[in-house]
Amino acid sequence: MSQTILVTGGAGYIGSHAVLELLSADYEVVILDNFCNSSKESLDRVKTLTGKEFTFYETDLRDRQGLATIFKNHSIDSVIHFAGLKAVGESNEKPIEYYENNVVGSLVLFDEMEKAGVRKIVFSSSATVYGEPEKNPISETAKLGHTNPYGRTKYMIEFILKDIQKAKNWDIVILRYFNPVGAHASGDIGESPNDVPNNLLPFVTQAAIGVRDHVTIFGDDYDTIDGTGVRDYIHVVDLVLGHIKSLEKLDKDKGLFIYNLGTGSGVSVKEMIDAIREVSKKDIKVVVGPRRAGDVGEVVADSTLAEKELGWTAQYNLKDMAESSWRWQEKNPKGYA
Ligand code: NAD
Ligand code: UD1
Repeated sequence: MSQTILVTGGAGYIGSHAVLELLSADYEVVILDNFCNSSKESLDRVKTLTGKEFTFYETDLRDRQGLATIFKNHSIDSVIHFAGLKAVGESNEKPIEYYENNVVGSLVLFDEMEKAGVRKIVFSSSATVYGEPEKNPISETAKLGHTNPYGRTKYMIEFILKDIQKAKNWDIVILRYFNPVGAHASGDIGESPNDVPNNLLPFVTQAAIGVRDHVTIFGDDYDTIDGTGVRDYIHVVDLVLGHIKSLEKLDKDKGLFIYNLGTGSGVSVKEMIDAIREVSKKDIKVVVGPRRAGDVGEVVADSTLAEKELGWTAQYNLKDMAESSWRWQEKNPKGYA
């Protein structure tokens, strides 16, 4: 019998790609989302792309009764927990909303899981828990830090999960994502920022299609190959396949596991803009501005532990990331709107 997975935040950017891959791998999927940063459209498209059914609940993580109903109606084997607010800048302006949504929301979810006897979870964490890295590539044993409320919510939830694991014997995989980018090969689902994008790639594709006049490079005086910021961009499809490997891991092994998901290769801001220029054949105007507050020069993952223990490695390269991002942008100039 196939397993049933509860996906929180399943209508979002990463969640919708995960639902698609889970359905393709014959999992039964139950989704919870309150659409605070997404719409039903992504899920309609997943249904069309896969030709498969899933159950959807428009429910907030903090709605105890709503969660209890889901656990009563379905025999859930594992949870993949994507739901959360994720904008660093906004988290500085709205710390109460971030702690309430991410930390309180996660606590309500964990409590209802425990009450229902569901004790397996894969959690979306972030490279942000390394704060300002002391060296690259960053391994899972590196010192942790936090530089903003968003990062602190991830840091806190990681520790909450560690305590629950010790006390209640849960089986947990914490995945620390580096920089997820790209879209499904169809170009029918992708990242659809509601507002001005915070992240580099959606900003660059929007500039290429003419929604933005130019891209501002946040500083070109870092100690990197060309002076611009270097990140470890990872294709969203590779990233979600890491979640399926994590579910398989929890079928075999008991305990708490933490993995970085990245490619191990750094790409600079200039290199990323050039990659989009190449695939879009568009001229992209660039202006060099000052460094963004809180930014660091280089953040690159050591993902060898995921390779060794999950049997997972990233398959897609920079060109694949740029092509799929551009296909999504070209087919959906205004996102899902
Ligand atoms: P997203 O905003 O596209 O998806 C999150 C989804 O969760 C949205 O559909 C939103 O409506 C839903 N949601 C938020 N709060 C909710 C609540 N209280 N109740 C129910 N639903 C709620 O973001 P994403 O990029 O898909 O990120 C998914 C997860 O991965 C997040 O936890 C994020 O912090 C983490 N992450 C993302 C990145 C990235 O660059 N995208 C990097 C590292 C970690
Ligand atoms: C940001 C978040 C981080 C989060 C990650 C993935 C901050 C400070 N950090 O990281 O917590 O986990 O996204 O969602 O926001 N850049 C430009 N011009 C732009 C946008 C970005 O030059 O218009 C540069 C940045 O300076 C950086 C690189 O592009 O060097 C990538 O930026 P971004 O996509 O925002 O990701 P991170 O900074 O890695």
